[in-house]
Amino acid sequence: MTTYAEITGWGKCLPPAVLTNDDLATFLDTSDEWITSRTGISERRISHVGTSEMATVAAKNALAAAGLEADDLDLIIVGTCTADEIIPNVASAVQQKLGAKTAAAFDLNAACSSFLYAMHMATQAIRTGAQKRVLIIGAERLSRILDWTKRESAVLFGDGAGAMILEASDQPVGLLSSHISCDADARDVLSVDFGLSFDRFNFDGIMQFDFVGQEIFKRAVKGMNAAVAKVFEETGMTTDDVDALIPHQANKRLIDHLAKLCKVPSDKTVINIQNYGNTSSATLPIAFAEAVEQGLVKPGDSIISAVFGGGLTCGAGLIRWGQRVEPKQPNNMTLDDPGISALEMILPMHEKTAAAWKKRQQG
Ligand SMILES: CC(C)(COP(=O)(O)OP(=O)(O)OC[C@H]1O[C@@H](n2cnc3c(N)ncnc32)[C@H](O)[C@@H]1OP(=O)(O)O)[C@@H](O)C(=O)NCCC(=O)NCCS
Repeated sequence: MTTYAEITGWGKCLPPAVLTNDDLATFLDTSDEWITSRTGISERRISHVGTSEMATVAAKNALAAAGLEADDLDLIIVGTCTADEIIPNVASAVQQKLGAKTAAAFDLNAACSSFLYAMHMATQAIRTGAQKRVLIIGAERLSRILDWTKRESAVLFGDGAGAMILEASDQPVGLLSSHISCDADARDVLSVDFGLSFDRFNFDGIMQFDFVGQEIFKRAVKGMNAAVAKVFEETGMTTDDVDALIPHQANKRLIDHLAKLCKVPSDKTVINIQNYGNTSSATLPIAFAEAVEQGLVKPGDSIISAVFGGGLTCGAGLIRWGQRVEPKQPNNMTLDDPGISALEMILPMHEKTAAAWKKRQQG
């Protein structure tokens, strides 16, 4: 009998502090009009806690929705490019905070594509029988790696986390087909100087965030469209069979473009970028959790997903939802109020980086 990997739990964690476009315009040469019209983003969240804390709240919500205990898990995969530390990984912090003692735990970094990559790997692990219950998470604290003096990239991103539980099932549900790829010729169009390329002896206070938006846009549309075509070819399905498109949220114009290419009407396309910006690996699980909460996903629905990110990584998947769209237990746990505004968290980072740029230019 074939084994599938059903999505039985879903959850999110959105930090309470909101940074609006007008807040950004107080320290950057930008405007609400520019950001909204070019990207669709109105506001984003700024986290006062680390990536692993957001990941843990999202994971608790997903476990509650699945009606499982932490020690039911045998694997935890965290998709992230903003780990709290290089070693140990975020997944081990989540394992510890949940008390999921029997679960193996690792991080996966495919930038914004990480969640779909994780879903692909977890599904294969379940389908081979190697694992039975896997927690997959997308979690990012991008506010800590952005260059807050650069308007072309600082306005695009936000913090957040989302999670899913995948469980072995004999029903044909879950990720039925997926295709992941990497266009490494474009490695340089999105890069952040961090990790071991970060020379601690010569660090002058600037974390280089390099970004060629138009090139990413072009390659992303091409890559996602090709991945979606492969998924349709493999499943023999067409856009007529699709109940919803839930894509990576990087730019509303890009999502509209993709929906047009995939011939999915706008009322079937899930978009929440206006509220959160691009939360990298977290966009997909947050969008899924909200789509289920809002009744946009119905029992047995077929959903197409597409992602892209630094690398340039890319992917698409065809997901069939199971029969349950109600959480088994309430899955609305949140973080405590930070007691500080988003702007108050960002301004010191902006000032420090602006001073560091000035020093570098002078000498
Ligand atoms: C980043 C992105 C929104 C830029 O939109 P765009 O329409 O291509 O804009 P451009 O980069 O051509 O910039 C147009 C002008 O706006 C200016 N501009 C850039 N950012 C601005 C901002 N935040 N506010 C005001 N003006 C801005 C530029 O300086 C440029 O000015 P100029 O014409 O005088 O030179 C778009 O390319 C994009 O969404 N790319 C893909 C998203 C992505 O890569 N996400 C991360 C990977 S997952």
